[in-house]
Parts: sequence; C-alpha cells; structure tokens
Amino acid sequence: MRKEITFKVNGGDVTVLAAGHERLIDVLRGPLGLTGTKEGCGEGECGACTVIVDGKVVNSCLYPALEIEGRSVLTIEGQGSGNALGPIQQAFVDAGAIQCGFCTPGMIMSVKALLDASPDPTDAEIRGALVGNLCRCTGYVQIVEAVKKAAVKLREGK
Ligand code: FES
Ligand code: FES
Repeated sequence: MRKEITFKVNGGDVTVLAAGHERLIDVLRGPLGLTGTKEGCGEGECGACTVIVDGKVVNSCLYPALEIEGRSVLTIEGQGSGNALGPIQQAFVDAGAIQCGFCTPGMIMSVKALLDASPDPTDAEIRGALVGNLCRCTGYVQIVEAVKKAAVKLREGK
C-alpha cells in the first residue's frame, strides 16, 4: 500500500506517494522527475546516487522512501541556478574533472557536504570525503583539483 509523504527537495515542499519497498532514489527519479541523481550499483558501493539529507551525505539507493517524511533533501538539480552552473559544478568543468559524467552528480553532492563543513580542506580531507564515490574515468587527480578550485571560489563568495 502506498503512503503519502511530504518533504523538502532543494528548498521546496513536495508530496508524493511511496510504498514500503521504494527507496529515496525511486521517488526522486520517478514521480519527482529528478533524474540527475544516478543509480549505479544500487547497493551502497559506488556513490552515484549520493544526495544530502538534513546536511548529511546519504546513498539514496539505500534510503527507504518512507523515512524521508519531514526531512530536507538536496540534489544536484539544486546546485545551479536556471541554466547557470553552481560554483562546484563550474569548478569540475574548469578542472577537466568530468569524462562520462556518470559519477559527477554524486561527487558534487559529496563535495558540497565537505565544503559546507570544511571550507578549506586538505588533500587528505578531500580524498576522505570522496572515498564512497567511485569514478572509473578520471583517476581522481582532476577531481581533487576541482574541489580545491571550488573551495577557493566559495571562500571568495563567487
Ligand atoms: S547506486 Fe547507490 S551507492 Fe551505487
Ligand atoms: S567521469 Fe566517468 S565515472 Fe567519473
């Protein structure tokens, strides 16, 4: 049986119907049409489905949809403004940190959580924050570079 759940996505209230077996990624990509969040492994291993719930990074493929009632979710769709990329997204472009792009939305959400908590992270902190986000294309060097560029932009208020 489906149950109505109400929560915030990128600052706006949404109400959807969800069943007990559904996961947060199912309601994001399904009824809400937010297909920026990707599903890779579906088992909590790859980080492609990463979103932020109440300030914490979660794997939306493991998060029961019914538990999102009353909470606040940030997804990749909330990172830009209109057609303009957000500062972290732009830094990934500028640093050449995107190849196929499948890992990118999840990476960017992990980076957002990192930079919200630690505006001037060390390389070790950056690598630690991204340990759950797998990228099979870039080799991570450009990603670390992108995070540093994003951190500077955000600190300068750009
Ligand atoms: S799809 Fe969720 S961790 Fe891989
Ligand atoms: S850019 Fe292809 S998986 Fe990361």
